[in-house]
Amino acid sequence: MERINLANINEKSVREAKSIVYQMARDYSPLIGLDFDKQILPDLANFNFWEVDYLTGSEWGLSIMDAYRCLVDVHRTTQIMGGIKETIDSLRVQGKKEIYAIDAGTGTGVFSIYMAALGVDKIFALELNEKTAELAEKYIASYGLTDKIKVIVGDATKMDIPELHTRPADILVSENLSGGLFAEPQFQIINHLSKFLNLEAPILPFKANLSVGVGYGYWDKVDWNNKTPRIEIAARRVPNITDYLNGVEFASVLSESGMSVPRITNDVTVNAETPANTLLISTFFQINKTGIKYELTPNSAEFLGKTSAIKLPNNAIPQNGKLNVKFNYEAGFSIKNNPDSLTVNGNLITLKDR
Ligand SMILES: C[S@@+](CC[C@H](N)C(=O)[O-])C[C@H]1O[C@@H](n2cnc3c(N)ncnc32)[C@H](O)[C@@H]1O
Repeated sequence: MERINLANINEKSVREAKSIVYQMARDYSPLIGLDFDKQILPDLANFNFWEVDYLTGSEWGLSIMDAYRCLVDVHRTTQIMGGIKETIDSLRVQGKKEIYAIDAGTGTGVFSIYMAALGVDKIFALELNEKTAELAEKYIASYGLTDKIKVIVGDATKMDIPELHTRPADILVSENLSGGLFAEPQFQIINHLSKFLNLEAPILPFKANLSVGVGYGYWDKVDWNNKTPRIEIAARRVPNITDYLNGVEFASVLSESGMSVPRITNDVTVNAETPANTLLISTFFQINKTGIKYELTPNSAEFLGKTSAIKLPNNAIPQNGKLNVKFNYEAGFSIKNNPDSLTVNGNLITLKDR
């Protein structure tokens, strides 16, 4: 089978990116013993395929299969590629001749490979999961890009990158995100890696807007598909869930070099006519700041940006058609590991990490 030709990617429009992503997935699949066309393509419409595994025995990190799910979440991957291309183009317009990049949480290595194909000179691809990193190295080598992309195994919230002490990177790509900014270390990574970045270095994705609504769903009929039941899952998995679109924005977070980990604090009022057993959190991502804007609207991708359903410990009872929701948590907070962080008292729902 013919491998993707990376040489002409720069000329390809983002509309063609879907076929690029499919071919990249075809090229990666044998590394994990899969046939993309026979085993994966037919499964992409099955929502159980998209259920996250996480990396066991570690605070952060995802499984090899989760990294693969990211790659084959075609709309997500192509939107981020579009944002990367616009950003690299604008760095060039600003006169940058030599571009260094960090790809934090490289997963399969897809964005490192894409940046190398766009002519980025040196890319540091960081990955916590040793096995995922090993596969990324093989995948990168298969495209002949080992001299441009350095895979570093370790925790991007802590690691040193000595090569960047005197020559900081010009762009950071980090997709360690999930709906509500829960459970993944995006901002811990940005905060830590800022010391290896130019002050003005763009960080992608650039913005996240969070909205909340409430609903009632049949949690007792969720198909757990052999996974451990959790109180926070993609809303589409809860049968008969209501009120998807009834969201009120409660936070907007920008990614900037030097930022600290944001704390999400807000009190909002949402409409509810009947008792609610579920908090519904949707997230909008803007990928890039400069050039044509690429974004992920809620529920437009499969693995990232699905509305999160969070099971309330007891029903919230509206007063005069309203419920109050109080948020006070640090980005990266894991509700699944701290179910007591969620309480309901009459018409007041509180999500608080301490
Ligand atoms: C959501 S995936 C994204 C993969 C790839 N960048 C993409 O967008 O297709 C995030 C990856 O980051 C890794 N990761 C999570 N926390 C990390 C950390 N603290 N340091 C380095 N890698 C991390 C995960 O193991 C996973 O492979």
